[in-house]
Amino acid sequence: MIKSSSVGIIGTGKYVPEKILTNADLEKIVDTNDEWIVTRTGIRERHIAASDQATSDLAYEAAIRALNSAGLTAEELELIIVATITPDTMFPSTACILQDKLGAKKAAAFDLSAACSGFVYGMATANGFIQTGMYKNALVIGADTLSRITDYTDRNTCVLFGDGAGAVILGEVPEGRGFLSFDLGAEGAGGDLLKLEGGGSRLPASNETVQGGKHYIYMNGREVFKFAVRVMGAATEEVLRKAGKTKEDIDIFVPHQANIRIIQSAMQRLSLPEDKCVINVDKYANTSAASIPLALVEAAEDGRIKEGDTVLLVGFGGGLTWGASVIVW
Ligand code: ACO
Repeated sequence: MIKSSSVGIIGTGKYVPEKILTNADLEKIVDTNDEWIVTRTGIRERHIAASDQATSDLAYEAAIRALNSAGLTAEELELIIVATITPDTMFPSTACILQDKLGAKKAAAFDLSAACSGFVYGMATANGFIQTGMYKNALVIGADTLSRITDYTDRNTCVLFGDGAGAVILGEVPEGRGFLSFDLGAEGAGGDLLKLEGGGSRLPASNETVQGGKHYIYMNGREVFKFAVRVMGAATEEVLRKAGKTKEDIDIFVPHQANIRIIQSAMQRLSLPEDKCVINVDKYANTSAASIPLALVEAAEDGRIKEGDTVLLVGFGGGLTWGASVIVW
């Protein structure tokens, strides 16, 4: 339980690239069909970055919108955290590239790697910095360009992913609002279930790693599915307990958008009605770190989230990792 709950979200922004890849488009690339994709995943289409767009470009668009919505200038920013598994380069970090693009000269900047849980990990980290008084505000972005690490000859994975970015500005909010609790976790032993092996210090990039497809996402879908269903329920219960809230207190539930069946099973476990759950996996597919902020920001912009609402975010991903938070909007 966070003692002072006076840190919260004071600005939001999102961005998805223009190009849309539909299930019908994928039918022309791999042996799949719309019916299989929709019934197994709930996905109908996804947005794909243009060839000249990298993760920092998507992050920049979302960041500008978030700054405008917070009424803050880039020069006033004190911290930038970019959660991503698809940085522009191994280094410098995407956060530093973004800091330069924004002209946020005063801001410290770093990337955070926790796959689809990265945005919640990032908010928890920034919240800690603000709670200690080290910084007054922070820009936290979940941004990923998964199309760059997706093998479009592998039907098991290529139907699942899309590109996008969601951003929030954290700062002081009135007492009684903002973050009530976080629950972060990891099960490193399951790391092999979801990974990109090539290009790191274990398997540096070489002709062999490229020919072996080691620069693409590898996923054991069935095992990740089981993990997801387990931790979504457990993390939700734990973060509610830490916040001193119950399932009945949730006004809006914002789960990681990986698969509609995982979301539905979490909702059933929590006995949550469908109208409390934000679902946009049909439009964007799984955008990894961008998934939760895209859903959160869309719901806020659509007026679905109202002042005073209790919002629960929960995600899971590579690592394996999970992260959840309760926020009073
Ligand atoms: N089109 C048609 N058939 C397909 C496709 C496709 N796109 N993909 C797989 N199949 C086939 C398989 O080959 C298999 O055929 P077989 O029985 O002849 O071998 C059959 O469909 C069933 O495959 P399953 O793997 O059993 O399908 P399942 O119901 O488990 O659904 C899915 C697969 C959608 C991947 C599911 O397991 C899932 O959503 N898992 C979790 C994924 C997830 O959340 N990942 C998070 C990663 S995010 C990150 O950190 C980057």
